[in-house]
Amino acid sequence: MKRTIGTCYYPEHWPEEMWEGDAARMVEAGISWVRIGEFAWSRIEATPYQLDWSWLDKAVATLGAAGLKVIMGTPTATPPRWMIDKWPNMLIVNEQSQAYKFGSRRHYCFSHQPYRLECVRICTLMAQRYGANPHVEAWQTDNEYSCHDTTLSYSDAAEQQFRLWLTDKYQNVAALNTAWGNVFWSMEYNNFEQIQLPNQTVTDANPTHLLDFRRFSSDQVVSFNRLQTDVLRQYSKAPLIHNYMGRVTDFDHYKVGADLDIASWDSYPMGFLEDRSEEGEAFKARYAQQGDPDFQAFHHDLYRSVGRGRWWIMEQQPGPVNWAPYNPAPLPGMVRLWSWEAFAHGAEAVCYFRWRQAHFAQEQMHAGLYTPGNDPAPGLFEAKTVAAEIETMPEVSTATAQVALVFDYESDWAWQIQPQGASFNYFKLVLEHYRALRSLGLSIDIIPPDSDTLESYRVVVIPGLMSLNSTLRNAIDNFAGAVISGPRSGSKTAQFAMNLEPPMPGMRSKISYVESLRPSTVIPMKNTGNVINWIETTTNEDPVLQRTACNRPVLIGDGHRQYLTAWADQSALRSIFKTLCQEQGVAVQELPDGLRIRDTKEHRFVFNYNPTPTQYQGLTIEPAGVHWEAL
Ligand code: GAL
Repeated sequence: MKRTIGTCYYPEHWPEEMWEGDAARMVEAGISWVRIGEFAWSRIEATPYQLDWSWLDKAVATLGAAGLKVIMGTPTATPPRWMIDKWPNMLIVNEQSQAYKFGSRRHYCFSHQPYRLECVRICTLMAQRYGANPHVEAWQTDNEYSCHDTTLSYSDAAEQQFRLWLTDKYQNVAALNTAWGNVFWSMEYNNFEQIQLPNQTVTDANPTHLLDFRRFSSDQVVSFNRLQTDVLRQYSKAPLIHNYMGRVTDFDHYKVGADLDIASWDSYPMGFLEDRSEEGEAFKARYAQQGDPDFQAFHHDLYRSVGRGRWWIMEQQPGPVNWAPYNPAPLPGMVRLWSWEAFAHGAEAVCYFRWRQAHFAQEQMHAGLYTPGNDPAPGLFEAKTVAAEIETMPEVSTATAQVALVFDYESDWAWQIQPQGASFNYFKLVLEHYRALRSLGLSIDIIPPDSDTLESYRVVVIPGLMSLNSTLRNAIDNFAGAVISGPRSGSKTAQFAMNLEPPMPGMRSKISYVESLRPSTVIPMKNTGNVINWIETTTNEDPVLQRTACNRPVLIGDGHRQYLTAWADQSALRSIFKTLCQEQGVAVQELPDGLRIRDTKEHRFVFNYNPTPTQYQGLTIEPAGVHWEAL
């Protein structure tokens, strides 16, 4: 498939006289897609029911006439000021029971029913107007659900909807009391109306109450999005997309993705490194102008799964952002590297955020492809290079990997609710497993926790999965390849009680007790690496494959079903995965730090995230260099 590039444009930010010139220069740069509209509600409907489409009609016509394909964003992430006068209770409420104020974005509560109807109304009007417009070739629903921590809301609306959700799930309150274990601390309820949201309790709230609230809140995002997709599909045949964020896990993206045609995400590698990575100062200093070499790839693989094979980058960092603690410029070549890395992982399009840097308001310090003074910015030249290279690239199509990694949103909620140790973080655990696999030169598929077959893979890795549902258990039972699960995988029931059976099909040992470790506690392995953060003791009924230096079992099982009783550090994981992959006939090669590989059907891509030249099989890959060769 021929890959494409795009950009994010805000016609409402610029005088109309600039639009035609902008469109011409987009085309000249090799851009095919332009996303507009997603924050423009106040310009479409300045006062209730007074709609002004004229400017948006003109913008679509101008961009379309230049040959660009428009992605139309629904404007529901930014309800205008009058909306709050009309529905004061629609504001999102934080855990301290305080409503946020108007004056920024994403200030709505997903459960507020009248706001949902306002969204249906504006989406219907928009879809009626542009659904058949030949220039509108894709739609984006809302913008970055959950960004700025906006999934959980402790509003009255959320409380009412939560009670309905619980009634639907449990049917009678006795069933709920049993499922939650409410006999503990006399927490039993007499009816659903008594149940409140689990904030502001004296000490720990019931974990199943908390987990059900997380499940409910996620379902609210799913149904909010579905209201929009239902409307859009009535009037348009164009694909429907949402732009997800990096390391946002507060709702189940697989479920939202099931209602959409394409997944997309907003990739800000340097912002993410500074803003949401737990790596130490030396790592951050080394990758300050490149981003974490595994963070983007992880999300590419995750969203490929969420999009059932179809995914894009809707926003690609083109230069310094404005929102991280430190905002240097990318190393020359990185914008190109990030783009090709996305294509190598299967992205159909990479859109750069944004076309021109705004000289006003919140994001005036955020780079675009053009400066606020309308001169080309460094990112533009790299985008142009990518567009030119796409023309010379015959094919980039996705191959199924040999190794799969299970990622589950609910497990992240579960371990936030009951971490048991301050350093037990599910996302970090999974990313560290991914990093170790990638450092062995492997391409990875990320798969959901309800995968019904594992047959295409040779090795499946399941770290920290709270509970194994029957679909996955059956898939494991029927799988000829190797599964390595743990730590903590399968340790709970779906009701968030302890699982008293062996944590994985094919194992005999049960978990006797667990320990979380201080950051300074490091337990050396007998062979390579260390145990950190977490270790479990089992009933010891399976063969022991790896031990700590002091003889505690860390890896148990046989050649095909293995369980990690501990959080193994990078070098321990690398050595465990290396042995397992070799046993399964999966070729591995230990890569230098910062160098990563991705195989497509036709090519091997090599990416150098290092600020220095790095050797790969006799070749010197330049800093920020991309190399590809036919397979
Ligand atoms: C994204 C968002 C954009 C813009 C961008 C800045 O999270 O979708 O609207 O704010 O960040 O980096």
